[in-house]
Amino acid sequence: MGNVQVIDHPLIQHKLTIIRDKNTGTKYFREVVNEIARLLAYEVSREMPLQDVEIETPLVKTVQKQLAGKKVVIVPILRAGLGMVDGMLDLIPAAKVGHVGMYRDHDTMEPVEYFIKMPSDLSERQLLVVDPMLATGGSAVAAIDALKKRGASNIKFVCLVAAPEGVKVLQDAHPDVDIYTASLDEKLNEKGYILPGLGDAGDRLFGTL
Ligand code: PRP
Ligand code: URA
Repeated sequence: MGNVQVIDHPLIQHKLTIIRDKNTGTKYFREVVNEIARLLAYEVSREMPLQDVEIETPLVKTVQKQLAGKKVVIVPILRAGLGMVDGMLDLIPAAKVGHVGMYRDHDTMEPVEYFIKMPSDLSERQLLVVDPMLATGGSAVAAIDALKKRGASNIKFVCLVAAPEGVKVLQDAHPDVDIYTASLDEKLNEKGYILPGLGDAGDRLFGTL
């Protein structure tokens, strides 16, 4: 079963409170989402494999560590996932960025795929799928289905706010995918919004309320 890690840190909790507040405007909301993404990237990359490399300091030859292993692809689920990309790239600047377009039909709450553009050789890469919200889990499951169909096998899912319902759906569908979230909230409401949540992340990021 995929692991769920709630990245519990005072800075993250403080910043989450700012974006949960309905009085926080678009510009500040966007900035703080990226700041949280940057902090999450630090934790998500904690287990990245290292390899030895020989270098010369100005004084001696020495064997030190450098990142090894699979090349990273950050995969925002459009639209709202875009809000986390710059923050993640701040810490993993060499990552490639793939895009998965997915929106939730407001009546059925079912995800609808409308765009996919990924780098080649997905089987050799570490994918970090990012979306601020894991609500019913439908969008995350559909996005990961689409990525696995294209050869991806090494996937982590990174979000800001998760509902227990969405965590279960994602774990059941993709037990190999570890989930990193800044908060595990209480529950979904009858319209599939996370409580207490932060509202519609895409609308708040892009000012389309
Ligand atoms: C939001 C959010 C997730 C999805 C989560 O996107 O960014 O992708 O809902 O809900 P789920 O877990 O129930 O699928 P939305 O469909 O509102 O699209 P947007 O990013 O374009 O605003
Ligand atoms: N999508 C959002 O943007 N917010 C929610 O609370 C649920 C799904």
